[in-house]
Amino acid sequence: MTVSTTTTEGLGMNQPEPSTATETGDRSTAAPTRQPEVRARPSASLADPVFRLDDVSVWYGDYEAVRDVTLDIGRQQITAMIGPSGCGKSTMIRCLNRMNDLIPGARVEGKITYHDEDMYADYVDPIEVRRRIGMVFQKPNPFPKSIYDNVAYGPRVNGMPGKMADIVEQALVGAALWDEVKDKLKDSALALSGGQQQRLCIARTIAVKPEVILMDEPCSALDPIATAKIEDLMQELAREYTIVIVTHNMQQAARVSDRTAFFTADVDDKGVRHGRLVEYDLTGTIFSKPADRRTEDYITGRFG
Ligand SMILES: Nc1ncnc2c1ncn2[C@@H]1O[C@H](COP(=O)(O)OP(=O)(O)OP(=O)(O)O)[C@@H](O)[C@H]1O
Ligand SMILES: [Mg+2]
Repeated sequence: MTVSTTTTEGLGMNQPEPSTATETGDRSTAAPTRQPEVRARPSASLADPVFRLDDVSVWYGDYEAVRDVTLDIGRQQITAMIGPSGCGKSTMIRCLNRMNDLIPGARVEGKITYHDEDMYADYVDPIEVRRRIGMVFQKPNPFPKSIYDNVAYGPRVNGMPGKMADIVEQALVGAALWDEVKDKLKDSALALSGGQQQRLCIARTIAVKPEVILMDEPCSALDPIATAKIEDLMQELAREYTIVIVTHNMQQAARVSDRTAFFTADVDDKGVRHGRLVEYDLTGTIFSKPADRRTEDYITGRFG
């Protein structure tokens, strides 16, 4: 499978960035609306981030669900987002492929760049964003179609060149499902087990050759054996793709990810909860010597 890992065309199909500012310039000149709690540039260098988030806040109507998140996400790495329920993990991961656009009243403030390009610039095509940055959800959601048609759907819609049978096979091999389904490609996807359905959804995601795969609790509906298969698959996929995963399973975050971001929800003086990034670092550091007491309490099970 050939996936570009060095350069990418612009999200607006090569339209120039309208802003004169460059992301390589002095980032401190950006005017934050308020001082963020954490400037989460991890100490271990991230030379070539895929995403850069600067003071990102997400609102649902007049509720600020997540406040002032600043972090970089590394190329061909697995980045885990952890934290208690309601701290804004799904909200954050949806920012990374503009899925929040589809939620009425949702609004993203701050700046998110993808390969140094402002993902939220007016000229950026959100459909192209979602093709480049695929998403796998908590509950496997295959279409009520055959296994083959599930995988072929995206390549057909996108008019991808090549022989469709080869594209489908390649995606199913990539998702470690081919051997289990190669003799029943015309069967309904809904007849597969939960773990197989989730790998089918991963096959469907990689069939359109994205650059990034976002996964929001992809294993929470799966048993330990299916979970182990997905985790192995993630390690395999990280050779080619950048992966961001939300998980409630801390062993999973520790096992699979390179970097971990810990979020929590702070209560403000009006009693309203806002998601905050507490700490972001190499996964080994987060799980062995977290810098913040709240991270330590969470990972040791004292909170959350
Ligand atoms: N579509 C929405 N409209 C309004 N508020 C929302 C919406 N989605 C999420 N929220 C609110 O934003 C906050 C963060 O929710 P989010 O789903 O991002 O949390 P989470 O960390 O993913 O939680 P969980 O671990 O339970 O999945 C919560 O207070 C939630 O109620
Ligand atoms: Mg969630």
